[in-house]
Amino acid sequence: MAERPALSGRPGRIDPSRVVTMAPFTQADTEGVRVRTVIVLAAGMGKRMKSDLPKVLHPVLGRTLVGHVLATVGEAFGGDARTVVVVGNGAERVTSHVAEIAPEAVVALQAEQRGTGHAVRIALESAKVTEGRVIVLNGDIPMLTAETLRALERLHDEGDGAAATMLTAEVDDPTGLGRIVRTVDGGVAKIVEHRDATPEELAIREINAGAYAFDGMLLQETLAKVSTHNDQGEEYLTDVVALLVDSGRPVRAYRTADADETLGCNDRVELAALRARLRDRVNEGWMRSGVSIIDPATTWIDVTARVEPDAVIEPNTHLRGSTTVGAGAVVGPDTSLIDTDVAARATVLRTHAQGASVGEGASVGPYAYLRPGTALGTKAKVGTFVETKNAQLGEGAKVPHLSYIGDATVGEHSNVGAATVTVNYDGVAKHRTVIGAHARTGADNMFVAPVEVGDGAYTAAGSVITNDVPPGALGVARGKQRNIDGWVARRRPGTAAADAAARASGGPVDDEGAASGDVRGDRAGEEAGGR
Ligand code: UD1
Ligand code: CA
Repeated sequence: MAERPALSGRPGRIDPSRVVTMAPFTQADTEGVRVRTVIVLAAGMGKRMKSDLPKVLHPVLGRTLVGHVLATVGEAFGGDARTVVVVGNGAERVTSHVAEIAPEAVVALQAEQRGTGHAVRIALESAKVTEGRVIVLNGDIPMLTAETLRALERLHDEGDGAAATMLTAEVDDPTGLGRIVRTVDGGVAKIVEHRDATPEELAIREINAGAYAFDGMLLQETLAKVSTHNDQGEEYLTDVVALLVDSGRPVRAYRTADADETLGCNDRVELAALRARLRDRVNEGWMRSGVSIIDPATTWIDVTARVEPDAVIEPNTHLRGSTTVGAGAVVGPDTSLIDTDVAARATVLRTHAQGASVGEGASVGPYAYLRPGTALGTKAKVGTFVETKNAQLGEGAKVPHLSYIGDATVGEHSNVGAATVTVNYDGVAKHRTVIGAHARTGADNMFVAPVEVGDGAYTAAGSVITNDVPPGALGVARGKQRNIDGWVARRRPGTAAADAAARASGGPVDDEGAASGDVRGDRAGEEAGGR
């Protein structure tokens, strides 16, 4: 299923679950306090994505790539960081996205993408950073955790502090990534980019993740010395490392054991691989907290969704956006819930739902479609092939089969007959149907809104209800039936139907005609009103 590129659950709306918590910058620039600046690099072209959408805006389980990175920053540092996002490619879209999800972050424009070092230089200038710690994060490493980010910074700060500290990991396939070149005594010597590496360097499996801590002052000084003498003719941030080492400054590496955290993404194949790894991590987290996930490989839970212990998630289920699933609820198989709340012990089977809420112990599906504004009360039921929109069902209310319930209220413990349609739209405006409590509406009803059915009222099957039905009344609105006796024998002689009818009434059977029965309709058929 295609994920939405925009972060808001519904068009034109910001879903609060997707807003990254990042309190206003409060840390004072006073002596003794180390100011923290976080720079997120999000200006790159992302050429290999072959996409109209800037790479960092591609969605992965509920957030964009850069949204994940900003969420991690928010989780790691809260308000104790001034955050600068460098934008360039697709600057307008990235800027408005950042404003939406991390309004406290500042945006710096890198009009021409001349490399990661150039991007950081622009960020430092625009934020007027002259001191303190500077954390730099690639915008395309969504699996980095707040824990690791804090650990990286702790290592950087240890003792008198390092000039630079980078996050590294040993990976099986380091293709395309910067390699960490170590000195004989194990210290960091430099980072060499894949395309600039010698064959010996290419054999190194320790890679640069694209997450760093720097001393701000030294970073600024050193960036000024970075050349563009490399295969791409760009200013590489990674060249700062060798320059610092050569000038005798302490440079450290924080090697994480979980290489997944360093997964970047340059094309859609890597994006899919990354999404699968993140899915596994999310699912593992929920299972460890007491959720049963029957088939983790086909269960996709956005990082923004929440599931309570003892919920059961059946195969091929997607929980997206701000969706919540309560304790003991059973969801799936083959179900997608978007921004939908499922209360405890409810059952939601083979269903697509968006912007809906399902009450405690309620039952939905199989094959139900709950649209925005659907609110099902405790133990309510929406059954097979039922579509609801802007509809409130009271406690124990039921719409079991084949119905469309839109712009409607169904009172508690009422039952709506099979094949019911609320006729809510007159071509210009929407109107409501209100059905009271303990009502019983017949099968195959049309409720032509605005219309009300009172408490305890009944309606007859096949009715088109255009007028209100008072409490306790039976509303009947259908043609009266008449039977035309002997019609088949007269108008369809020699057919199988005529024979069957004859047998039923003990008359003679015409064997020859039965095989060549005429089944065309004619005027008499219309007259009989048959269907
Ligand atoms: C970079 C590192 C590499 C590391 C890898 C990890 C450099 C030179 N190389 O390589 O050592 O192993 O990340 O994934 O830094 N960006 C800008 N402006 C630019 C160029 C890039 O903002 O002018 C941003 C991109 O949007 C991206 C990040 O910087 O978010 C990294 O750029 P990318 O081109 O993906 O670098 P890699 O070649 O992957
Ligand atoms: Ca990259």
